[in-house]
Amino acid sequence: MLIAPSILAADLADLKAALEVCASAEADLVHVDVMDGHFVPNLTFGIPVLRDLARHTSLPLDVHLMVEQPERLLDEYLDAGASRVAVHWEAVSHLDGTLARIRRRGAKAGVAINPATPVELLVDALHALDFVLVMSVNPGFSGQTFLSRSLDKVRRLRALIATSGATVEIEVDGGVGPTNVAALAQAGADSVVVGSAVFQSADPPATIRELRRLAAT
Ligand code: DX5
Ligand code: ZN
Repeated sequence: MLIAPSILAADLADLKAALEVCASAEADLVHVDVMDGHFVPNLTFGIPVLRDLARHTSLPLDVHLMVEQPERLLDEYLDAGASRVAVHWEAVSHLDGTLARIRRRGAKAGVAINPATPVELLVDALHALDFVLVMSVNPGFSGQTFLSRSLDKVRRLRALIATSGATVEIEVDGGVGPTNVAALAQAGADSVVVGSAVFQSADPPATIRELRRLAAT
């Protein structure tokens, strides 16, 4: 299981420390939640912040675009150092072309789906995808409760991917922590985004290692 700590839940005035937590626990990815105040009410990190994060870590930046019209600034996010970019299915007009643009730049192309968006809608996009980000909370904030029906979505998506013959990673985002990471692994998740369960814990690097251990059980 890949672990992607979400720095949205860290001390936002000390992002360097959050990156150090990720590095010291050998996290696989650093998850960066970009919010535009339109697709979701919150505002978070912009392109200059992404650029500085990339300067201070060698871990891949897993950029989750919770923005309307993500096509508009796509090149800028990629130039800033994103290794993986997920656009929201609900926010993008031309998914296939957008995913191709991400791949052409050498980054991994992903689509994020809200809790009420069925995985079956992705059947004709799987060949163009490197990963699907299954939202297990409504996007916008850290610290929300995991929606348990997400487990069934992961199982259904795993089956769809197997039938298609494509190689697509399943990443789950929202309310993930020690109590559900093993169930997510069993359902077929390859990676998890973890915000508050890591950064609000007493020992964030130890929590990252513990999540990896629990996922393997
Ligand atoms: C929510 C974000 C998540 C969030 C996860 O919109 O996409 O990445 O930071 O935080 P937790 O793990 O606290 O739900
Ligand atoms: Zn996210």
